[in-house]
Amino acid sequence: MKRNKTLIPLSHDHHHGLLLAQMLRKNALEYRTLPNLPDQKAKYAIDFFYSDLIKHFRLEEDILYPFVKGLDRSLDEMFIEIISEHKKIEEYINKLKNNIEIIDIMDTLGKLLESHIRKEEKIVFPKIELVLGEEKLRQLDVEILRKSNH
Ligand SMILES: [Fe+2]
Ligand SMILES: [Fe+2]
Repeated sequence: MKRNKTLIPLSHDHHHGLLLAQMLRKNALEYRTLPNLPDQKAKYAIDFFYSDLIKHFRLEEDILYPFVKGLDRSLDEMFIEIISEHKKIEEYINKLKNNIEIIDIMDTLGKLLESHIRKEEKIVFPKIELVLGEEKLRQLDVEILRKSNH
């Protein structure tokens, strides 16, 4: 299904998140544009979390969720899961900072991040598009622009 224009920037972030998730896995391929040594991967993941992921989570939690809240029960339930997964991802980032067992932690974090993003792309976003419809998606677009610009 083609992504609605309003959600395209978020889907674009998801693409970068998936690359990070794959890089963190134990069986990761070597990427020319990403670090390949465990310590460097851990640092990259921590930096990426604070430079990109956290803003993305805030947008989903503080703009997207309030906008759709109360419109559809299954969507509300999905968002409760989404928010608890965001917290879990942050916990794993914090664990990475301790420098202990980073290979296992990165592997778990990679799996967590990948399944989180795939759930949003395959289930949550299509549901948002369905529940909101064209007109409200346009309003959401305005809301995102207004709130994320300051
Ligand atoms: Fe998310
Ligand atoms: Fe997301």
